[in-house]
Amino acid sequence: MRADAEAAYRKKTPRSRRLHAVSARLHVNGVHHNIRHFDPYPFVAVSARAQHITDADANRYTDYWMGHWSLILGHAPPAVRRAIAAQLGRGWMHGTVSKPSIELSEEIARSVRVAEKTRYVASGTEAVMYAARIARARTGRRVVAKVGGGWHGYASDLLKSVNWPYGSESRGVYGERNIVTIPHNDLEGSVRALRRVRRELACIVVEPLLGGGGCVPCSRDYMRGLQEFARSCGALLVLDEIVTGFRFRLGCLYPTMRLEPDIVTLGKIVGGGMPIGAMCGTDEAMSVANTSEFGRGSRSYVGGGTFSANPASMSAGLATLRALRSRASVYGRIGRLGEAARRGLERALDGRAVTTGMGSLFMAHFSAGGRPVRSAADAARCDTALLHRFHFEMIARDGIFFLPGKLGAVSAAHTPSDIRGLVGAAERFSAMLGRGGG
Ligand SMILES: Cc1ncc(COP(=O)(O)O)c(C=O)c1O
Repeated sequence: MRADAEAAYRKKTPRSRRLHAVSARLHVNGVHHNIRHFDPYPFVAVSARAQHITDADANRYTDYWMGHWSLILGHAPPAVRRAIAAQLGRGWMHGTVSKPSIELSEEIARSVRVAEKTRYVASGTEAVMYAARIARARTGRRVVAKVGGGWHGYASDLLKSVNWPYGSESRGVYGERNIVTIPHNDLEGSVRALRRVRRELACIVVEPLLGGGGCVPCSRDYMRGLQEFARSCGALLVLDEIVTGFRFRLGCLYPTMRLEPDIVTLGKIVGGGMPIGAMCGTDEAMSVANTSEFGRGSRSYVGGGTFSANPASMSAGLATLRALRSRASVYGRIGRLGEAARRGLERALDGRAVTTGMGSLFMAHFSAGGRPVRSAADAARCDTALLHRFHFEMIARDGIFFLPGKLGAVSAAHTPSDIRGLVGAAERFSAMLGRGGG
């Protein structure tokens, strides 16, 4: 971070600085999700509406982080607000089967073929953790294969090889030997690694587009190759569509790759910005979790939790999916804005960066010599410090918010003028680098 950008940021965020000091006294590192910290301190948000988020000093930012990319309709869209308000009037925590959970599952099943059975949890982390457990229970095997750079939340079953150079991520995780890492978009290398564990392989877990791993889509051949390998050895294919589900189309990305997964995990958008995770699977894959059918020795005991399928999340998710269904053109519109962002950033950053993503998700990578980024490893080898700096400069000087280092998401609330503003900020950054401000 350059000293003048930091000075500009400190000058405009004195209240955030004071609040963050209190937060740091009360909370580990001042945050509740590690990635939310950035130096010198993250601004403290007080409100958000449409494509804007406002901090404690009344600075308004055009938001491309959009609540961990969960807010495809923008912040506090009227349809979702009305649904939540109506649900609050009917109570927001019933602790029983609730009508909105049934309606949300019907809505998901209309668009996601594999969702013959759905179970809700309170986060994406739990959804993937339980999906792995179901796979282990069904197969009687212990190994879960995941992609280097893949992010599936903090559960111990998948907390390995997330950040470059891929390896251990955390002390206190003891099941790491049960997690096998496969190289992203490298089918040959992946099959080589999978062959070594084929007899012990319970499932392959993979995102169709790596979100946290650099906004890099998986190639269809790669995904189909993984599916073929899983089928050949009796392992399950678990697709983590927590970022991609309902992001590019009404439903998941997997049908566009002609895949037939056993379980798909959803989150983010399907909760309309409220806490959610979902496991959707074929009857066959999910049946092992049915405690009426399987007793203690044979069942897979999966959550749940107190707040699973809470009516507020269910209603917010239902309103979001219904809004997406009734405004089918939204995907084309936000996809075009995403494409304009990718093209504009590449042009503005003038050979210093390439972009990745698809549809409404995009990311710039400062890649030496303009080398293309085709995998999570390619993305990790780019100049990530410069990307952080670019994002921080925009927070400090342009009123544009990306969580530093993370991909950007266009929502239905963003406009062409927002994208022009983003490209203008990139041009200024590029000019600054050109003047030797690197
Ligand atoms: C692909 C993917 N899987 C799982 C998760 C974990 O979801 P949550 O943060 O809701 O626990 C995330 C979160 O960003 C994600 O991007």
